[in-house]
Amino acid sequence: MIFSFSGTGNSYHVAQRLCVALDTDYVDMAPAERYGRYEYDAKGEPVGFVFPVYYMGLPDMVRRFVSSVKVRNPGKTFCVTTCGGESGVACEILSEILEGRLTIDSYHDIVMPDNAIFAPYEMASPEDNVKLLEGTDASIDAIAGRIANGITGDFRTCAGQEGSRELYKLYDEHRVTENFHLNDRCVECRICEEVCPEQIIKVYHRKPVWDEEKCTMCMCCLNLCPKTAIEYGEHTTGRARYNHPDFHMRKLGGQPTDYISG
Ligand SMILES: Cc1cc2nc3c(=O)[nH]c(=O)nc-3n(C[C@H](O)[C@H](O)[C@H](O)COP(=O)(O)O)c2cc1C
Repeated sequence: MIFSFSGTGNSYHVAQRLCVALDTDYVDMAPAERYGRYEYDAKGEPVGFVFPVYYMGLPDMVRRFVSSVKVRNPGKTFCVTTCGGESGVACEILSEILEGRLTIDSYHDIVMPDNAIFAPYEMASPEDNVKLLEGTDASIDAIAGRIANGITGDFRTCAGQEGSRELYKLYDEHRVTENFHLNDRCVECRICEEVCPEQIIKVYHRKPVWDEEKCTMCMCCLNLCPKTAIEYGEHTTGRARYNHPDFHMRKLGGQPTDYISG
């Protein structure tokens, strides 16, 4: 059983490939959290958590879900984070939240294209992202092999940088929705409303409005907008958007495996 959260598809792709390799079920944490589905029976199968690293730690959506989840009969447990280059202390924080309910047996991370296109630093080009993705399936398969063979331990390649916990404190300060703004390309297609894993975007008076003061900051709305009409802060204008090629659009009210591809 793999619990996953994904804004732009990297973690979705990793979780889906691991599910196939380990012959286990995929659970999308976003609808599970929205509908309050917290109790699971793993029937002795491996139990994994797969999600992106935000500010060296966990997305708020993941934090909320894992604070309540209860898993009976877990097999070996693991955490796989996807990140743009530094996986920080996301696995440690996950373990701390789960303490007393589940112990994580192995930690893994995978460097994938960076979807934080609001960041002040330079972004990789779309061509570089395509090249980076060419190598990731081999990393996922190596992780699946370790899990299938019951190998435990810390296999992360870019974890635990100094200052990670300090940086994570900024996450809750920064994830304010008033930083979203629109350029003049919005055509009121409502795709942002549909894809938001928290379902907090509503189109009022022909324009999307973020209905909560804070969001998980997954950047799904901004990256999947077909007109690149959504901006965030000062650095997104003119920048290429990103989504994993396997991940096109999440259906409204999405069920755990409910995705459209193609
Ligand atoms: C709000 C936010 C914060 C991020 N912080 C980090 C970070 O601290 N370290 C890092 O390496 N990547 C960071 N990233 C990049 C993502 O972790 C990375 O692109 C991830 O693979 C995206 O996964 P997804 O496509 O499943 O959403 C951040 C992305 C976002 C949107």
